[in-house]
This record gives sequence, C-alpha cells and structure tokens, in this order.
Amino acid sequence: MDSIHIQGGIALQGKVRIQGSKNAALPVLAATLLTKERSFIRNCPKISDVYAMISLLKSLGCTVSWEEDGVYVDPSRVQCGEMGSEEVTGMRSSLCLLGALIGRCGRVVMEYPGGCVIGKRPIDLHLEALGKMGVSFREQEGRLCAEARRLRGARLRLPFPSVGATENVILAAALAEGETVLEGAALEPEIRALCGYLLSCGAQIEGVDTKRLVIRGGRRLYGSEYRIPADRIVAGTYLFACVGTGGEVFLEEAPWEDMTAVLETAESMGAKLCTEQDGIYLQAPRRPGAVERIQTSPYPGFPTDLQSAALAAAALGNGDSLILETIFENRFRTAEELRKMGAQLEETGTGRMLVHGVESLHGARVEAKELRGGAALVAAGLMARGETVVTGCRFIDRGYENICRDFRELGARVSCGTSRR
Ligand code: UD1
Repeated sequence: MDSIHIQGGIALQGKVRIQGSKNAALPVLAATLLTKERSFIRNCPKISDVYAMISLLKSLGCTVSWEEDGVYVDPSRVQCGEMGSEEVTGMRSSLCLLGALIGRCGRVVMEYPGGCVIGKRPIDLHLEALGKMGVSFREQEGRLCAEARRLRGARLRLPFPSVGATENVILAAALAEGETVLEGAALEPEIRALCGYLLSCGAQIEGVDTKRLVIRGGRRLYGSEYRIPADRIVAGTYLFACVGTGGEVFLEEAPWEDMTAVLETAESMGAKLCTEQDGIYLQAPRRPGAVERIQTSPYPGFPTDLQSAALAAAALGNGDSLILETIFENRFRTAEELRKMGAQLEETGTGRMLVHGVESLHGARVEAKELRGGAALVAAGLMARGETVVTGCRFIDRGYENICRDFRELGARVSCGTSRR
C-alpha cells in the first residue's frame, strides 16, 4: 500500500541530517551532458526524480554508477537521439535537458514535460529565450522538436525570474558561440549550484547570485567533481513540522544562509532558532503563534515549495494567519485535505488563504496530490492527535529520500505502507 501511517501528537526531538537538494541535483545532472568526460556528483539525493533523470541520461547513452557518497556520470558515448517519453512526461525538470542537449547535440525531440499538478506551468519563457539563441521549435505529433544549426550567445531578459528558464539559458549558453547576457535571472540557490558545477568544469560565468549573468560560451568543458548542497526545502519541511508539534530539533547541514525568509517566518511563529556552522537548532513554542502574512515569491522571498508546510503549522496558530500564494495557482490543494484534519481554512480570493488557527488537529485519512503538499500532510499528521494515514506517497518519494526514517529519527511514530519500497 502506498501510504504513511502516523501516530501524531508527539513533540519532535533529536537530530536529523538533511539530504542533498533535489532542485540542485537535477540541473547539475543534466549539465553533466555538456562535457565528454566523467563527473562525480556527491551528495546526490536518492529520490525518484533523480532516478528518473538518471534513466533519461542512460537512455541517451550515459554510463551511470552509484557509489555510497554520490553518482558517476560518464557522458562520453551520448547518442544524440530522442528521449524516452515515459520519464519526460513524469518530470518537469527533464525540461533542463532541453538546454543541455541543444548545446551538446544541436537537436532535441522530447515530450512536453510533466511535473507536479500545481498550476498551468507553461514553458513560453524557456522557448522564447532559447529562440533568441538560434533554436527553432516545432511540434511534431505532440512532441517538441528543437533544433539549432548554430547556437549563439544573445542578450536576454526574462520578464519573470523563472528558475527553469534561467537554468536552460545557462546550460545552452555554456556551449553556445560567444557571450550570453541574461538579465532578470532567478536568484534561487539552485542556480548557484548549477553555476558552481559548470565553473568547476571550466565554464566562464560571471554574476553568480545576481540577476545579471554573463556566460562566455564555446569553451571546452571538463568532467569534474561537485557536491550537491543540502536541500533547503526538506530542511524547511522538518522545521515547520517541529514548529507545529513542539519540541527541539537539530537539522544537521540545513543550509540556513539560504533560508532567511523561512527562518523569519518560523521565528514569527514563536520558534527560537540558532544557526550554527553545520545546521539549524530549533526550539519550538508550545503552540505556534499566528503570522500576519506569509507571501510566496521568488527567492529571496518565502518559497512556494514551503507554503503547504507553513500552512499546516499556521493551522494550529494562536489566531488568524494570512497566506498569499503568488507563484503557482493550484498550490492550495493541500487545504482540502487539512480540513479533514480539523483545520479551519477559508479561501478569501485567488491565492489568498485565511487560516483560523485551531487548538488541535485530529488524525484522518488524507491524500497527497503533489510532492510538497504531500510532505506537508505528513507534517500535519505529526501535529495531529490520533492516527493519520497519508496516501499517494509516490509524490513524496519524488523529493524526500525517506521521510519516515527522518521523522522517526526525531522521535515520531511513523511507518510506511509495506509495498512502498
Ligand atoms: C522550480 C522548482 C520548483 C519551485 C519553482 C518556483 C525545480 C526542479 N523546480 O520550478 O520546485 O516550486 O521553481 O520556485 O527546480 N512560468 C511561466 N512560463 C515559463 C516558465 C515559468 O509562465 O516558461 C511561470 C510558472 O507557471 C510559475 C512561475 O513562472 O507560475 C515559476 O516557475 P519557475 O520558476 O519556472 O519554476 P520551475 O522551474 O518550474
């Protein structure tokens, strides 16, 4: 059975190590295609989205082997052909293979990428930017064909700092002829990770961690070794779980420097935090305080990927909290499930959720409908009295190595349905 069973109402206590970041690992794995040499990617999370990316890389001819501490990718024998459709449709981040493959092969045929069902998720910004670099697109039997006779640098401006479009431009620009100047780039730390890997391969990129990136392309890139940073979203999920259950936890390796907006929110809910070189120590309040307003926005704003986890903690808040979702329109799907647990959530407009804090949540049978919302339901189950069963856990497996193990390390009573692994 595809489910997680939780006996809630226990304050989290103890220490857990935070896994490597999914959103950093995926574009870095795609970027290994830009060289003809083997790379070693350390701290790569063992999650189903990474496995899907690896099957795509293998279907293109890469040799991939896992070691205890990471994964070797050898792209020396890549055949420039069509991508396996099954993996692509299930994962939106297969989209960053577009930029990498157009750089390496000059031609890509792929299914329209999938991903979480959290909104329309168009790809117009990707297509427009790559188009200006000499890529032409056409649709053929429902598939996307991209071709570039001559991939060339360009002056580009993104009207919205799309993470995926920024990554695609960087990947294509690294092998394009000449210089690319990208204005309006996304600032998410995962962009820094992608640039970090490419720099270690010999790429020339200026302006990392700013909105203006300058990439001088056409250089030969070498295989390299790179360590994926810890996952700020996984760390944030565990942090809000603790805010809602009470207790004290140490999130080892949590990348606190990249989590300012999240930490400020947790503090405004009454958590006491101490950031140390190697992680975050958190002491939760007995009951979370209400927050005046949490508004998701591009980095360094509050991440949309943690909106559901914050919503779960705010559901127990001592008063009303307002949550504004500005990035993905369907991200309140978790609310429906949280209501089954006794949360009082009032949608007062598109992307506006007024949370009337209740004193306690109760266990229920709820269904994960997407990755981050699913993890938030597990967190809510920990906060609730009695038993919660979360179904649809294949979504959670996309981004969390082993959420049950991690919460058990923090003293929770959690078990996974037998047929999950
Ligand atoms: C990435 C993250 C995802 C996170 C999101 C926002 C990965 C693998 N996924 O997704 O976890 O929730 O950033 O931080 O890194 N948009 C367009 N046209 C486009 C592209 C995007 O309109 O061509 C819109 C989207 O519909 C959405 C917004 O821009 O409303 C943000 O999308 P984007 O930043 O591109 O997110 P992803 O890269 O898909």
